[in-house]
Amino acid sequence: MKKIVVMISGSGSNLEAIIKACNSRKIYGEIVCVISNNPDAYGIERAKKYSIPIKIIDHNKYSKRDDFDDILVKFLDDLDIDLIILAGFMRILGENITQKFYGKMINLHPSLLPLYPGLNTHTQALNNKDKYHGISIHFVTAKLDAGPLIAQGKILIKAEDDLEKLIARIHKVEHDLLPKVINELCLNNIYLNCETHKVMYSDKLELKMSPIYFNN
Ligand code: GAR
Repeated sequence: MKKIVVMISGSGSNLEAIIKACNSRKIYGEIVCVISNNPDAYGIERAKKYSIPIKIIDHNKYSKRDDFDDILVKFLDDLDIDLIILAGFMRILGENITQKFYGKMINLHPSLLPLYPGLNTHTQALNNKDKYHGISIHFVTAKLDAGPLIAQGKILIKAEDDLEKLIARIHKVEHDLLPKVINELCLNNIYLNCETHKVMYSDKLELKMSPIYFNN
């Protein structure tokens, strides 16, 4: 079984979806630690509920970005993990850490990248009257929300969607697709060729046909 670390900053609903999938063997892996950069993140309570070890590394305690990254690297090195999942982790990570874990670290982002990297993706999709909105899961590089894409999920924006409804629908997609992707990574059915930067999929894997349309 693969050793997984999940990094969070807030509510942790995706963390909980991953925990449930691990517990029901839908992910062939085990979460060895949850890292939060925010001591008040609700996700910490969720991790506690399932007795998962928690490490808080408060970014406010480090004046330089690199110092925070260095502490993270040291901690992750000691854990000797296979996969790092950024699930609602809201800190930008630098060159050193992203290079060190290139191919092992993935990020969940709430937009159809390359559309809307950064913040406020749902508002942008609504304001621009986009037909579709969605989520992307990608390997992490130092360039914000721009690493090699693994999978995307998309939904049709409905006339009745306001910000709250749209976020709820996007969360549903995330809670479904992220655990599936993590499982395929754990089974080595998906991996990154770090030389060519190409994402490799085993034959017939439905996920490589993304964006996958969700009718929720
Ligand atoms: C998720 O929607 C995730 O896509 C987004 O934060 C939310 C966290 O929700 N991530 C980003 O915006 C990263 N750029 P959660 O804490 O309930 O899992």
